Amino acid sequence: MSARSVRRKVAVVGTGSIVSGSHLPALRAHAERVELVAAVDVDQGRLDAFRELAGAEVAGYTSMGAMLDAVRPGLVLIGTPPSLHKEQTVAALKTGAWVLCEKPLTLSLAEYDEIAAAEEASGAYASVVFQHRYGSGAVHAHELIASGELGAPRVAHCQTTWHRDEAYYTVPWRGTWASEGGGPTMGHGIHQYDLLLHLLGPWTEIRAMAARLVHDTESEDVSTALVRFENGALATVVNSVLSPDEVSRIRIDCADATVELTHLYGHRNEDWVYTPAPHVASERAAAWRTPAADAPSSHTAQLGVLLDAYDNGVRPPGSGPDARATLEFAAALYKSAFTGQPVHAGEIAPGDPYYPAMHGDHPHWAPKERA
Ligand SMILES: NC(=O)c1ccc[n+]([C@@H]2O[C@H](COP(=O)([O-])OP(=O)(O)OC[C@H]3O[C@@H](n4cnc5c(N)ncnc54)[C@H](O)[C@@H]3O)[C@@H](O)[C@H]2O)c1
Repeated sequence: MSARSVRRKVAVVGTGSIVSGSHLPALRAHAERVELVAAVDVDQGRLDAFRELAGAEVAGYTSMGAMLDAVRPGLVLIGTPPSLHKEQTVAALKTGAWVLCEKPLTLSLAEYDEIAAAEEASGAYASVVFQHRYGSGAVHAHELIASGELGAPRVAHCQTTWHRDEAYYTVPWRGTWASEGGGPTMGHGIHQYDLLLHLLGPWTEIRAMAARLVHDTESEDVSTALVRFENGALATVVNSVLSPDEVSRIRIDCADATVELTHLYGHRNEDWVYTPAPHVASERAAAWRTPAADAPSSHTAQLGVLLDAYDNGVRPPGSGPDARATLEFAAALYKSAFTGQPVHAGEIAPGDPYYPAMHGDHPHWAPKERA
């Protein structure tokens, strides 16, 4: 914690699963630095249940605008369905509050650029929750790869093979472009390939496929991609909600070592394995082990990093161009899958159908009437 640290007034917007189960514990873990003063939900029952959990001193509101006017929080945590993220993030930024919003931050690159403009106008920052970047294992792997200690990255696999049943898709905001923004590419695999992009740096080209094999959704329920990175590495990416044996995995083969992460919904140090190449001396490989202090990937870890940035008045990680790159990857994956063409970084700009909507108005994939 910085010496200039002050206790920030925080409000949460949306009091469902992720806010109750992950943001509230994160706020409690950082109680010396934050004070939860207000909660907003349009569902009075959920709001009441959350306030019972969080404490009666947390003021309850059913309107975000009324909360912002009355409370003027310094930081707003947003955990509402994805279609609301842009509007609510912009509303908070307009009051000068910083924002930490759940993934996906927006439904499209066009929406993302509206947030960038609102940041510029307000001087405050909006970050997106990608908690897997922030555990100690990921921080260590990032340092080893970025410093060149493992040698040049050459081949990578990024796998989100999860399972979601019919009941999961009965929640009304799931499975449509307008409310969820996409299928496992936008909602599930985005965590893992965000971490892959964080570890490997900028990508240059993507060739992808997507299919709707099982669920009655507008969006895909599986996607796969081949990716070329600026550093020359080639990667495969799989995003699935059709996989009975669930696992989240990243494997990066560098010149001097293979680094592997295997977990499901969150990682700890023991989930990272380094295997040296035959030519690497064992003393050198021993030094790669993740340091003993174990910070699991979590909302708590990300909130701490955001508060450090807030105290120092600097752009937090997971915001601005950094977070836009992950969303651009999603847009490019969809564009390549739906058009059958390779897509290059930077090509989806205003005027491109995949800029305002991930479905790109493609006739097979654009929204249909739901029964
Ligand atoms: N980071 C992660 O690992 C992770 C995991 C699960 C979900 N999420 C994300 O979190 C978000 C919420 O998911 P969830 O599973 O908690 O959903 P949820 O349905 O349990 O909760 C959403 C809440 O938002 C409320 N809400 C709806 N409209 C509102 C409005 N206008 N103002 C205020 N509140 C409103 C709902 O009443 C509900 O209580 C999604 O973007 C999802 O992708 C992230």
